[in-house]
Amino acid sequence: MNIVVGVCGGIAAYKTAHLVRLFKKTGHDVRVVMTDSAQQFVTSMTFQALSGNEVATDLWDEQQEAAMGHISLAKWADWIVIAPATANTLSKIAQGIGDNLLTTTVLASDARLALLPAMNQQMWASSAVQANVAELVQRDVVMIGPDSGEQACGDVGAGRMVEPEQALKELGEIWHQSWSGKLVLITAGPTLEDIDPVRFIGNRSSGKMGYALAEQAARQGAEVILVSGPVALKLNHPNTDLIHVRSAQQMMDAVQAQLESNEFDVFIGAAAVADYTPIQVSEQKIKKSEHVSDEMVIQLKKNPDIIAGVAAHVNRPQCVLGFAAETQDVVGYAQSKLARKNLDWIAANDVSQSEIGFDSNENAITLIGKDSTHTIKQASKTHVAKELLEIILKDLEGSIHE
Ligand code: PMT
Repeated sequence: MNIVVGVCGGIAAYKTAHLVRLFKKTGHDVRVVMTDSAQQFVTSMTFQALSGNEVATDLWDEQQEAAMGHISLAKWADWIVIAPATANTLSKIAQGIGDNLLTTTVLASDARLALLPAMNQQMWASSAVQANVAELVQRDVVMIGPDSGEQACGDVGAGRMVEPEQALKELGEIWHQSWSGKLVLITAGPTLEDIDPVRFIGNRSSGKMGYALAEQAARQGAEVILVSGPVALKLNHPNTDLIHVRSAQQMMDAVQAQLESNEFDVFIGAAAVADYTPIQVSEQKIKKSEHVSDEMVIQLKKNPDIIAGVAAHVNRPQCVLGFAAETQDVVGYAQSKLARKNLDWIAANDVSQSEIGFDSNENAITLIGKDSTHTIKQASKTHVAKELLEIILKDLEGSIHE
């Protein structure tokens, strides 16, 4: 896992050195970002030696930004762990303030965030800090600690940073629940069915939903193979393999070849596969002048059903999930596809709304299973992917609740 460790200015910063050591010992890749005040307590040299990577300290340092700028750092991270998290940094993050390298990295990242608060007990108890903590928890930020006890200032109460071993244990429990060890096959994007060398039948799928699923599953530890139709997206995660295809037949062939050589836990069909393809593909560009009539007929034949082929395969993954793009009776049509294609889940997608579904950044789905139905409200495709994967994971582990 790629972990950005953010260090703020507090006496507990010395404990963070040990936390970095523990992360490295347990096989994680660590990059450290220090605030100015953190450097008053521990030198960047300590963290450089322990993490094996240069430490980032300054948003305005040309060399540091050229090496691994805060945006690449934000994208690189699977998790951002801030330890110690001072009242100041915690509150800035809750309020969306980005005024230094650490807070801008947090703002620019969709990595999961964990905070290990450390501050005076009265500060921790203050209504302002508690309101910010509540806001962060609501946003799914993981809070570890603080511990209670004697503080560096002599006060006694809650506000001590938890011990590194305890933090690693709590984070390990969260990471363990994730997709690590699972192999996932996903289709994404449109398929393009050629008519002649310059024309094709296509659709408006951008691939964003399928790519978000691939990226989120990989971020949570899964090995992901993504078979993608032509889209303008990049997939940036070491746990992913990307196979480019153009037509439905090519997508079918690629998926079948994968099923022959790998044992997948999950298949997700997010691709908008063309149902029909031209019977004949002209080798030369079809000329208007060749047609005397004002009408032109292109004869089509049915494409193979890729997901039905996955569900019927001898190497059928434990979970096969399809998407159903519908413009009317969305849930009804989705339910009939679930049964007809022998799927475990279907994500009913109301594509009659322009702000969700095809080519938009957001989506909203009704996830229908054989025994339960879940509504995932309108949100970014990244967020929808996270929620969907959470439900599927519970299903795989046999702990699903409606
Ligand atoms: O790519 P985006 O712009 O982000 O948009 C996302 C999306 C709207 C494309 C996506 O969320 C979605 O709904 N994908 C499925 C679209 C679709 O074509 O649905 P369908 O009802 O035609 O097909 C049902 C299921 O069967 C799908 O899982 C599809 O991948 C699969 N299928 C369909 C036909 C076929 N020949 N083979 C298939 O595997």
